Amino acid sequence: MLKRKKSLVGLDIGSAAVKVAELRPLSGGGCELANLGMAPLPPGAVVDGAIIAKVPVADAITRLFRDKRIRNRRIATSLSGHCVIVKKITVPLQTPRELDESIQWEAAQYIPFEIADVHIDYHVLRTNPSGGSMDIILVAAKKERITDQTGVISMAGKVPVVVDVDAFALQNAYKLNYAPDPDLVVALVDIGASTMIFSVVRGSEFLFTRDITIGTGHYCDFFQKEMRVSREDAERLTHGDFRSAEEGQQAERIMTTVSEILALEIHKTLDYFKTLSSTFEIHKMYLSGGGGHIPGLTDHFHRKLQLPIELFDSFRVVKKLPSGLSRDELRAVAPDMAVAVGLAVRTTGE
Ligand SMILES: Nc1ncnc2c1ncn2[C@@H]1O[C@H](COP(=O)(O)OP(=O)(O)OP(=O)(O)O)[C@@H](O)[C@H]1O
Ligand SMILES: [Mg+2]
Repeated sequence: MLKRKKSLVGLDIGSAAVKVAELRPLSGGGCELANLGMAPLPPGAVVDGAIIAKVPVADAITRLFRDKRIRNRRIATSLSGHCVIVKKITVPLQTPRELDESIQWEAAQYIPFEIADVHIDYHVLRTNPSGGSMDIILVAAKKERITDQTGVISMAGKVPVVVDVDAFALQNAYKLNYAPDPDLVVALVDIGASTMIFSVVRGSEFLFTRDITIGTGHYCDFFQKEMRVSREDAERLTHGDFRSAEEGQQAERIMTTVSEILALEIHKTLDYFKTLSSTFEIHKMYLSGGGGHIPGLTDHFHRKLQLPIELFDSFRVVKKLPSGLSRDELRAVAPDMAVAVGLAVRTTGE
């Protein structure tokens, strides 16, 4: 996956933090993590994946690259949330040229946006010559959101080369790290501060994805509302840091309530996936994003969803670490960096 072409720095602009990762392939297999970094963003700068305040986001990127001494300026970044639609569709069998011409028309049937306002891309999954059809993944992203994101990257003095989708980055991070068995069906769930990305893959094959606008911010909202605490205290409670036994008991009750809401959202999405693809049984779920740190969340999901749940390890194939970073430090951020690592898999000239 990482051979020959020039590497890009994976840049994940989330609503809580920006994360960067740069990978280099090692000749003996596995890869080197050339650079890694994360910087928090001020509240409100990025909301539900949309960049609201460009200057603080550009500043955070500039500082992160400077502090980590990252020289590579070429960036792969991604979008998520309501501005992107990803759909697996079946179209009549046609040549690549015909498909290039008909894709706008095909897309118009599936995309609830004005076609003029979106950038359309597609990838052929398979052709079924006997049935005269082909399966493709259709992606439509709001042009405005693409230019907002690339604009901020340019403002930070970097060069946006690839604009991907969070769900695909997650899948690439999974492929890179787990080299999955072709028949293994897994759900990849990334819970960020505001968005939960839910995808299903069989081996390395895309089956389904959906972004759900709920995240760890829900814990903070509940703490603030129910316990009348400040945003900072709510964030502290989310980390399981309690100042008294009484505070702990109250916070744990609220955490259970919110974890149940998240589990229910996943349950509904799993049910929806089953109605679309009744032939595929999900064997396992990987959890990534800041949600991977929520105390007890994996156990909670395991009980409610009756599925084996594992924390996603973004650095499973990393053999060489950036200088000054220990394995323990790396392990501590392994769930958070999934999207950035999946973006760092992308190269120039794709
Ligand atoms: N150690 C921790 N314990 C508990 N919660 C944590 C911990 N670390 C991070 N979080 C939660 O995860 C959130 C950040 O997650 P993440 O970095 O995945 O979000 P994001 O990618 O910036 O947001 P999004 O993708 O939703 O736009 C924090 O706001 C916090 O609520
Ligand atoms: Mg995120």
